[in-house]
Amino acid sequence: MTAKKKKKMINEFYKMKEKGEKVVWITSYDYPTAQFAQEAGVDMILVGDSLGMCVYGYKGTVPVTMDQCIVHSEAVRRAAPDVFVIGDMPFLSYQISCEEAVRNAGRFLKEADCDAIKLEGGTRVVPQIRAILDAGIVVCGHIGLTPQSSGQLGGHKAQGRTLDSAKVLIDDALALHEAGIQLLLLEAVPPEVGKFITELLPIPVYGIGAGMHTDGQLLIISDLIGQFQAFTPKFVKKYANVAEVVTDAIRAYGEDVRAETFPAEEHCYRMIEGEYPKFMEMAKQYKKPN
Ligand code: KIV
Repeated sequence: MTAKKKKKMINEFYKMKEKGEKVVWITSYDYPTAQFAQEAGVDMILVGDSLGMCVYGYKGTVPVTMDQCIVHSEAVRRAAPDVFVIGDMPFLSYQISCEEAVRNAGRFLKEADCDAIKLEGGTRVVPQIRAILDAGIVVCGHIGLTPQSSGQLGGHKAQGRTLDSAKVLIDDALALHEAGIQLLLLEAVPPEVGKFITELLPIPVYGIGAGMHTDGQLLIISDLIGQFQAFTPKFVKKYANVAEVVTDAIRAYGEDVRAETFPAEEHCYRMIEGEYPKFMEMAKQYKKPN
């Protein structure tokens, strides 16, 4: 076990930006993984609505509910009390009205003890962002490829690859900064655009598939450990092959059970000394039922 680290709060991320220190950010959805993440020394955890695909097997994030996000955020917080945890606002938890946005954002703090919330969108979510900030909640913006509105984007496609598209991103980034967000996430944009926005804004700007120049990196845990099988975005680097390790382990267990080599003697509880003869005597009174 490494020495216990003090939880970083929002001001530390600004200092890290100033000093050019990169922030390490991953998603996590459950207790064991969040424990590993804290132990490995990550700076931040996002309880992403990607849990819809990574945990529940939905084909996208749209079906994910607030209640699911809260339950998973609670588990992550229990496992990682010393990490800055961000709750991710699922589809339709903030789009309908500012009032609903504040109520739902507040649930992440009140029920799951999150440190901040993240929501997707640019200029069009500025009213909701202002309302959530007015409630005293730290907000992380998220622009570029925004999976909840991937239908409008024509699928899970990189953004900012043309001049016009890059300009939309820059204008969105400025609008969110102007609204008061404290952190910004860029997803699936060219490194040049990532660099420009990171240097333009005084707030920490992080990337997932936004190149090497952002103030920190986010990866989805299920991609990073090689657990998620459906598809692998270009920006993913797999650091392990958990799918293979787990499948091999289950296969080996199956082989042992079929070959009757598991359980072995060392996996069995034995009766307390002297009890077995009495048990055999007592057992005589039982007859096999028809
Ligand atoms: O839900 C999530 O994990 C996310 C990332 C894809 C940025 O929002």
